[in-house]
Amino acid sequence: MIVTTKELFKAAYGKYAIGAYNINNLEQTMGLFRGNIQSKAPFIIQISKGARSYTNKLMLEGIIRSADQVFPEAVFAVHLDHGDEETCMDCINSGFYSSVMIDASSKSFDENIAITKRVVDAAHAKGLVVEAELGQLGGVEEHVNVSEADAKLTDPNQAKEFVTRTGVDSLACAIGTSHGAFKFTGTQGLHFDVLAEIQKRLPNFPLVMHGSSSVPQDEVARINAAGGKLLGAKGVDDNQFRKAATLGVTKINIDTDGRLVWCRVHREHFMKHPEDFDLRPAGKEFMAAYADFIAAKNVKLGSANQLDDVRKMLGI
Ligand code: G3H
Ligand code: 13P
Ligand code: ZN
Repeated sequence: MIVTTKELFKAAYGKYAIGAYNINNLEQTMGLFRGNIQSKAPFIIQISKGARSYTNKLMLEGIIRSADQVFPEAVFAVHLDHGDEETCMDCINSGFYSSVMIDASSKSFDENIAITKRVVDAAHAKGLVVEAELGQLGGVEEHVNVSEADAKLTDPNQAKEFVTRTGVDSLACAIGTSHGAFKFTGTQGLHFDVLAEIQKRLPNFPLVMHGSSSVPQDEVARINAAGGKLLGAKGVDDNQFRKAATLGVTKINIDTDGRLVWCRVHREHFMKHPEDFDLRPAGKEFMAAYADFIAAKNVKLGSANQLDDVRKMLGI
């Protein structure tokens, strides 16, 4: 059943974080639903601008609607990840999404507020929930290519002003993470001090942590052993998710880790079966491996085994 992120945040705030997982295709969707049902977790499906145009935005919509029928016990929100104003408006008017992220974090503070406010007004008029971003993550991905050098942590005082002036429902904060597989070059970690200051100014307000893939080192080693070349890949320690949750982080975004699972399964499969050219055997292995990955990640987030309570809270 598709619900809003607001409803999920209400159930989770301060106790655990909801996993927000990006999808691009059928196999990811299947693995995602199986993993969340396996671990009895509510979850958020994220669709980026790139994912919407990978095939056609209606294809993903169709796949998700079908998954909702195939897995009637699933409780999830459908969320636009890193939207610009135009894409947000398209999603708001589509009648399919339950929430959108407007990412105007590269603009000035006042411009970010003005753009976010327009999106909030349009979204709230139709019952949708809005996430915005303040501060800048370092990153290597296509649409969020902010150089590590320019990365700016979120200013807690600005965060309060931003939320008050925009009426936004949740806020993505820059606390030291970045997108992609190469997050840290040394011993950097999460800035819990910044999170604590933001929570002090915005009590009970859901915060979002982007760039939260953990880039498991065994996964990286297996990819490299099967012909890959991921040198120095490093991610966030997922044992820190629960602490982040107590400081108000209610949504944790994970995309890169799923791509690593895909890459490892396919590299190993075709190395082990060089005679194989069929897409289904490797696809089946991927769906099973991705489901196991999601189930294990939900344990780290604390969202595993919360599904019954969430269903009760929603009266479904
Ligand atoms: O934060 C960005 C997400 O990982 C989505 O990546 O724009 O390549 O789909 P993408
Ligand atoms: P990762 O690249 O760490 O998976 O982050 C994904 C993300 O923040 C999506 O918005
Ligand atoms: Zn992100």
